[in-house]
Amino acid sequence: MVNKITVVGAGNVGATTAQRIAEKSLGRTVVMVDVVEGVPQGKGLDQWESAPVEGFDTRVIGSNGYEETAGSDIVVITAGIARKPGMSRDDLLNTNAGIVKSVAEQIKATSPNAIVIVVSNPLDVMCHVAKHVTGFPRERVIGMAGVLDTARYRSFIAEALDVSVRDIQAMVLGGHGDTMVPLISYTTISGIPITQLMPREQLDAIVQRARDGGAEIVKYLKTGSAYYAPSSGAVEMVDAIVHDRKRILPCAAWLEGEYGMSGLFLGVPCKLGKNGLEKILEIELTADERTALDRSAQAVREPMSVLSL
Ligand code: LAC
Repeated sequence: MVNKITVVGAGNVGATTAQRIAEKSLGRTVVMVDVVEGVPQGKGLDQWESAPVEGFDTRVIGSNGYEETAGSDIVVITAGIARKPGMSRDDLLNTNAGIVKSVAEQIKATSPNAIVIVVSNPLDVMCHVAKHVTGFPRERVIGMAGVLDTARYRSFIAEALDVSVRDIQAMVLGGHGDTMVPLISYTTISGIPITQLMPREQLDAIVQRARDGGAEIVKYLKTGSAYYAPSSGAVEMVDAIVHDRKRILPCAAWLEGEYGMSGLFLGVPCKLGKNGLEKILEIELTADERTALDRSAQAVREPMSVLSL
């Protein structure tokens, strides 16, 4: 375990992330920070009181300021408003850019060596805000989206084929939006190409459902967006870093020439270990996947261009 992990935002995503981190004993201390008075303190205390039953030693504390977070090894940013039905992730742009900017300034001042995992939406652009404001190298600012989008895609495939989710290997690349790119050519069931086990039409429907996965949950919840699967995604990345696992996971990374692109965050296959982003893997794509990735990059650049940093 590492010494300290901070989760910024004590809403549904933040609080569930803190809980999962504690239950996996990934840090000695987890600090939950939120601007709302009492909420991080109350949720943190409540989680800590579950420790004797759940059997973890991670201390969970809540705070409205950043003093307690000082010297964090990892910071997960979940702060920001969530979508309401009918809103796209880009509708959150200006409000959440302001929030993430002020969070990033605090992190830079109090935890200058932290690895930052961004979860706030619109994800790829919020990663850019966090990287720009902290000035951290790309190894230490990574976005969580691909793990979530891939988890949705895998869960739908498992359900359709009536097989274990564990045996489904897949990766969803691109931006965290309607243009995300599930890689059909790399989707396998214990190594068996998915195209041998499922008709193309059914697979296309699953791809579309994964793309709309966030909106499907927003439509049910009405007053907020998903948090169980998003927090699982963030914690899988934290776990890979804490345990130096060298996991290959789809994450939003700052591109410097990979896939022929530079100057934006986009979901690509990444190696995560104790140094954060340790490598971006450049894999072969089919012509369709390549076109879809370019389209997705364009969809990320548009909101970036209206942002004043
Ligand atoms: C989702 C939101 C959180 O995909 O982006 O559920």
